[in-house]
Amino acid sequence: MSAFTEANRKAFNDLSATYNTKPWQHKLSQQVSDALQQRREWLGVAWTKPNADDDDDKSRDVRLLDYACGTGAITKALGPSVTTIRGIDISESMVAKYNEAALSSGLTSEQAHAVVGDLFAAQVAPQISGPEFQLFDIAVIGLGFHHFEDPALAIKRLAERLKPETGVLVIIDFLPFADEVAREQHQHQHQHSHENPDGVAGRSSEMAHTIKHTGFTRAEMEKMFADGGMEGFGWNVLNEPAVMEMESGRKERKIFIAKGRRSATAWGKLRGWFGGLQEAMGGQMGMMMRADGRFTE
Ligand SMILES: C[S@@+](CC[C@H](N)C(=O)[O-])C[C@H]1O[C@@H](n2cnc3c(N)ncnc32)[C@H](O)[C@@H]1O
Repeated sequence: MSAFTEANRKAFNDLSATYNTKPWQHKLSQQVSDALQQRREWLGVAWTKPNADDDDDKSRDVRLLDYACGTGAITKALGPSVTTIRGIDISESMVAKYNEAALSSGLTSEQAHAVVGDLFAAQVAPQISGPEFQLFDIAVIGLGFHHFEDPALAIKRLAERLKPETGVLVIIDFLPFADEVAREQHQHQHQHSHENPDGVAGRSSEMAHTIKHTGFTRAEMEKMFADGGMEGFGWNVLNEPAVMEMESGRKERKIFIAKGRRSATAWGKLRGWFGGLQEAMGGQMGMMMRADGRFTE
């Protein structure tokens, strides 16, 4: 684990006891939850329909990956629309809180369960490499993206965990907030040199060193989605800003929701093109493409 990811792990382990306990934190989670629920159709996932007449629909497995799940805000928001949820987070304390909350809300560990892991490590751990952590209908990162060391790699690695052609990646994060972080880092240095000789900084300054990216523009997100093999990019900015009551003061940030669908594999695209061509020529091409991609006479 890189030093930066380790700093995140430690900081979120420390935060886990109080995470989502303050009124502003509840409000922010609710804001994100409402925004996702209002955009259910726009997200373009084949959600569960628990009251459907069709038995096939009721038994369909709809799989959510809640990446950087924390205590489970995204799981709570989208849980009723899916059947199976897996969470991943680098903080073992956050994962413990997530699993406690899932069990106490009546979900079995088969329905919702989180594990400690880092999908962006050089060597991805076996506990997140098996079939249980593949082929998701939707993967969501709720307010974790700006804490990642390499966001472009994050999109690529998450895209690989989606169902080809239909799996949707959703990122909820902040528009650029560089000015605010520069101000905080300046205050942090000031504390070190004057008021705080032992180097113990206030909470918000502690969190500033867990942030590598001070928000993202639409153009940056769109490029990262395309480079990561995603299609159908979509973008929404919430009207109401996020309000955070940190120890260093009140902060306002604008929240965006970005989405994209995993492209068909290069092979899948070729098959689609070739199938259409063959049909158009009424089978006159004299050879057939087999399921394994070889050609037969
Ligand atoms: C601001 S919290 C968001 C938690 C939750 N998604 C929510 O909406 O409340 C960010 C989370 O990202 C996790 N995190 C940071 N870097 C990570 C990484 N490389 N892989 C997995 N989780 C990570 C942290 O441990 C933390 O729980």
